[in-house]
Amino acid sequence: MSALQEVTHIDNVRLGEDGKSVVILDQTQLPNRTIYETLRTAEELYTAIKTLQVRGAPAIGICAGYGLAALARQSAATDRAAFDRLLREQSDYLVSSRPTAVNLSWAARRMCALLDAHGDWTVPQMQDALEAEARAIHREDIEMCRAISEHGLSLLKEGDGILTHCNAGPLATSRYGTALGPIFLGTERGMHFRVFADETRPLLQGARLTSYELQKGGVDVTLICDNMASIVMKNGWINACFVGCDRVAANGDTANKIGTSGVAILAKYYGIPFYVLGPTSTIDMSCPTGADIRIEERDPEEIKTKFYAEPMALPEVKCYNPAFDVTDHSLIAGIITEKGICRPPFSQNLPTFFRERK
Ligand code: MRU
Repeated sequence: MSALQEVTHIDNVRLGEDGKSVVILDQTQLPNRTIYETLRTAEELYTAIKTLQVRGAPAIGICAGYGLAALARQSAATDRAAFDRLLREQSDYLVSSRPTAVNLSWAARRMCALLDAHGDWTVPQMQDALEAEARAIHREDIEMCRAISEHGLSLLKEGDGILTHCNAGPLATSRYGTALGPIFLGTERGMHFRVFADETRPLLQGARLTSYELQKGGVDVTLICDNMASIVMKNGWINACFVGCDRVAANGDTANKIGTSGVAILAKYYGIPFYVLGPTSTIDMSCPTGADIRIEERDPEEIKTKFYAEPMALPEVKCYNPAFDVTDHSLIAGIITEKGICRPPFSQNLPTFFRERK
C-alpha cells in the first residue's frame, strides 16, 4: 500500500470480531499515539463520542450503527418487546451524546426503523439484521465519500490552493473523506495541490488530524492558526475553500466546526468560492434554517487549560465554548454531495435536488 492509500484506508471505526463490541482509533491521542480502544457498553460508546475519541459527523453515525448492533448482540432479552425497548433506550442515550451532527440521529433512526419493519422476526434474526444494517451504513459511506470526492475534484485544477477548516478527512468519515476527498483523489491521480489547514481552536482538529492525514498522505500541507486565514487569502494563495458539515438545513444554512462561518465571510470578501462537502445523510430537510440547529456547548476547560502546560486563564473567568457555528447559505457557492453539486438558490434547489436525485 502507498502512503496515500494507508491514510485513505485508515481503520477508524469497525465492529469487533465478536460482533459485541466496537473498535475505534482514539482520535484524541493523534498525532502522537496510535491507540485502538474496544467499546462494549452503551456508556463507553456514549463517552467515546462525547469526548471526541471518535468524531466527525459521518464517523459518529457509523459508530452509532455498529454500537447499536453490538449492544443488540449482547441483549439478554428473549422476547421482542423487551429487546426492542432496550435497544430504543440505548439508541436515545447514544443520540444524546452530541446534538449538532444529524448523522448520529440519522443512523440511530435507521437502525431502529428495522425494529418496526420486522416486528415478527425473532431476536436472533433481528441481531443479524441490525449487524447487516450497520455494515451497510458503513459501506454506503465509503461509496458516498468516493462520489463526493469525484464531484469535488471536478472543481479543482492542477496546482490549486485550498483552505480547509477542522477535519473532514478519512478519520472523520470512511476512506477519502468529504472536504479532503477531492484532494486525496486528485493526488492519487497525479495532481498537486497546496492545502492550508486551519489549526481549528479550541480542540485543534486541523492541527492534530487534518495536517496529519495530508502530511502522511504526501499532500503539500501548510498548517496555519485560524486567524491567519485572511492573510493567506489576501496573498492570493487560495483558489477555493472546502469544508465539511454537521447539518445542512433546508435553506442551505450549514452547521460545521466553530470558525467555519468566519472562513466563509473572509472568502466572500476575497472573492474565493466557499464549498461545503457532505453526504446527503447530513442534509436535514426537517430543519428549515440554521436558526433551528442546536449548537453543542462544551466544557470551558477546553479553552482554558486543555493542551497547555499550565492554565492560560484564571479559573473563574467566564468562557463561551460553542463547538459549531452556522454558515449562512448566502456565503456558500455550492453544496457537494454524493449526488452532485447543488448550487444556490438552495431553498429552491436543495429540495428539488434532494427529491429528484434520491
Ligand atoms: O467536533 P467534531 O470534531 O466532531 O467536528 C467535526 C466537524 O465539524 C467536521 O467538519 C464535520 O463533522 C464533517 S466530517 C466529514
